[in-house]
Amino acid sequence: MRILVTGNHGQLVSSLIALANSEIQVIALGRPELDLVASPRTICTAIAFEKPDIIISAAAYTAVDKAEDEPERAYAINANGAQAIAQAAETLGIPVIHISTDYVFDGEKTGYYSESDTPAPRSVYGASKLEGERLVAETATRHIILRTAWVYSPYGNNFLKTMLRLGPDRHEISVVSDQYGNPTSAANIASSIIHICTRILSGEFHDWGIYHLVDGSEASWSEWAEYIFECAGMAVRIIPIKAEEYPSKATRPYNSRLSTDKLNRVFSLEASDWKLSTKIVVDQVLNINSDNIYGDTTQ
Ligand SMILES: NC(=O)c1ccc[n+]([C@@H]2O[C@H](COP(=O)([O-])OP(=O)(O)OC[C@H]3O[C@@H](n4cnc5c(N)ncnc54)[C@H](OP(=O)(O)O)[C@@H]3O)[C@@H](O)[C@H]2O)c1
Repeated sequence: MRILVTGNHGQLVSSLIALANSEIQVIALGRPELDLVASPRTICTAIAFEKPDIIISAAAYTAVDKAEDEPERAYAINANGAQAIAQAAETLGIPVIHISTDYVFDGEKTGYYSESDTPAPRSVYGASKLEGERLVAETATRHIILRTAWVYSPYGNNFLKTMLRLGPDRHEISVVSDQYGNPTSAANIASSIIHICTRILSGEFHDWGIYHLVDGSEASWSEWAEYIFECAGMAVRIIPIKAEEYPSKATRPYNSRLSTDKLNRVFSLEASDWKLSTKIVVDQVLNINSDNIYGDTTQ
């Protein structure tokens, strides 16, 4: 199975590459060969050259706050760029799995969001990703849209790594306690994607459409932070604060918990436990850091 994933160094790309083996080839295609903004017309040629069986459209503009100041760039990447990948998939007759976000919802619901709930994004990032979903669905006949949330891994930038970076210098940190979501390990998303690809490519598959893919169960940012420090053995006191006390450019949903019932029903995929996965990634990050401190001889 040849899986092509867009981007080079992103969290999900890196996590997919980590799962490659003799049966699963993962081709990462990113800038400069594939630039969602600068070279939309060469995307189809670049993908065709790699002859993939399936495309994972993971590259995105993910700076949620910065997007409020750069809406054109966010839409160029998350909407038009996503459509360019979907168009290439359609032209080449290849199925595409497009990655989207919980931030397409406004967070006003009290329970878990299902795929049939109506999106109403509160940020430029969320709106640009929703437009990407619409364009992908309109363009590629064989598409799956996977909405995920609160992604973390040893790679790139994420909340878990920020906490571990701040922890050693701080006795206490104020963290938002009234926004709830599903912290989700990129490694778990990657292994679920491989499972979904295998299913799609192994025969007749007709259940195209939107799916929610997150780890279970849920947490607030402050609960997650507390657990990260517990796993790391760092004595940092978390001061719970309300979102309105933490000024940020983008408005985030208070509740973006996603139901994974459909994913479980169609693909028999069980949600992983966020606490178990957080512990694994904290250990990985701390080991990487200690390798850097004691083992890195490059300058
Ligand atoms: N991070 C989250 O908390 C979160 C939550 C929900 C959904 N998602 C979605 O999950 C997917 C993967 O997220 P992630 O956390 O892995 O993202 P990430 O770590 O921020 O990486 C973004 C990727 O997009 C690529 N990219 C950005 N602009 C590009 C352009 N103009 N042309 C080509 N590639 C470009 C980057 O390229 P380089 O490799 O060159 O840097 C990088 O590989 C995204 O679709 C995101 O919207 C993420």
